[in-house]
Amino acid sequence: MTESVIPIFDLRDHRYRSMTPSIPGKLAAPTGLVADTRGRPLHDLRISVTDRCNFRCVYCMPKEVFDKDYTFLPHSELLSFEEIERTARLFVAHGVEKIRLTGGEPLLRKNIEHLVEMLAKIETVSGKPLDLTLTTNASLLARKARALRDAGLTRVSVSLDAIDDATFRRMNDVDFAVADVLHGIETAQAVGLAPIKVNMVVKRGTNDQEIVPMARHFRNSGIILRFIEFMDVGASNHWQMDEVLPSAEVVKRIDAEFPLEPVQANYSGETAERWRYRDGSGEVGVISSVTHAFCGDCSRIRLSTEGRLYLCLFATEGFDLRALLRGGYSDLEISNAIAQVWQGRTDNYSEQRSDPTVRARRAERKIEMSYIGG
Ligand code: GTP
Ligand code: 5AD
Ligand code: SF4
Ligand code: SF4
Repeated sequence: MTESVIPIFDLRDHRYRSMTPSIPGKLAAPTGLVADTRGRPLHDLRISVTDRCNFRCVYCMPKEVFDKDYTFLPHSELLSFEEIERTARLFVAHGVEKIRLTGGEPLLRKNIEHLVEMLAKIETVSGKPLDLTLTTNASLLARKARALRDAGLTRVSVSLDAIDDATFRRMNDVDFAVADVLHGIETAQAVGLAPIKVNMVVKRGTNDQEIVPMARHFRNSGIILRFIEFMDVGASNHWQMDEVLPSAEVVKRIDAEFPLEPVQANYSGETAERWRYRDGSGEVGVISSVTHAFCGDCSRIRLSTEGRLYLCLFATEGFDLRALLRGGYSDLEISNAIAQVWQGRTDNYSEQRSDPTVRARRAERKIEMSYIGG
């Protein structure tokens, strides 16, 4: 069989810049292990189920860009649940053990619990249940937590950028109250979604005064609070280095109030560096994409809302998997195409960020996080 390559470029919009993966001439059954050019295995599939969100967090979907004239994807463009499930199975056969549903806000996707139910039936290559999780702003969590748990969701990660109500309302920019997020978290805890993680993006000068109050609030709760360095993801959040508070400073501030000690990573490739309170009151994490890149063992791939594969959070181009899913190809053909895409992967943007030439080359073309999935 000859190799078929169908490149499709549409330069109207960077979101649509993609190539259709080629189907290799020689097909092989997946072995449960596929490595990229740097020997990194594929373990973590992040699926964006919608590019819409009811928040306008200043670091992610600034209002002046994501306004009433912004064109989100029409429903007909989205992958169906059946297409997502098929894709997930193909990835799991290559060694994926964790699936994270993201967005936008994933709980805005209608009947999301049905998708969870379908994905929860998939087992890893070693016959274990998947680590099936979801990133949410918690606005709909109180309403949905039980159905999600019943459908087979393992755990959730909730975004919350301040415990002070006025600061949080300024960060989400839609006047959403802290109390409603906390209610969502409590409901998720009550139904047994565990462990719950809370992600706080830290912007120096905007919410960094909230670091210690957030730590104080979540100590002794069983919830793992993680502080994320503000990143230059997408092309619309006006990222500036002087608004990044290095994680070392976050740890220093917490340690001064509540002494900390380091903890070993849970798994190779973990985004967060872990710390625990010396008095046994729990743990926190720091995610330092800017000051301490973790590309070296990055095992994450992202599937966008309408079925494009992205090999890096900072990618400028994707691979149009949907063209294969809808093109009459067999599972084996698509599985081989996916393997080939991963095997060719070289990405390590966070390691290169300090190079101004790399930054400038990508600046206007990076995909928005709300589209690619966080
Ligand atoms: P666990 O499975 O709980 O370990 O979570 P995770 O850290 O893999 O996923 P999560 O979505 O909670 O990640 C938290 C944040 O870390 C994201 O919202 C991003 O800001 C950042 N992040 C996650 N993955 C990557 C990545 O591959 N590269 C970079 N630069 N940042 C990432
Ligand atoms: N920098 C860091 N994290 C971000 N997120 C979105 N935009 C950014 C950014 N610019 C992450 C946050 C949020 C999740 C949905 O996406 O972790 O909790
Ligand atoms: Fe929505 Fe999450 Fe982005 Fe905030 S960070 S705008 S909640 S997708
Ligand atoms: Fe992975 Fe890209 Fe993030 Fe590096 S910058 S950790 S390669 S997603």
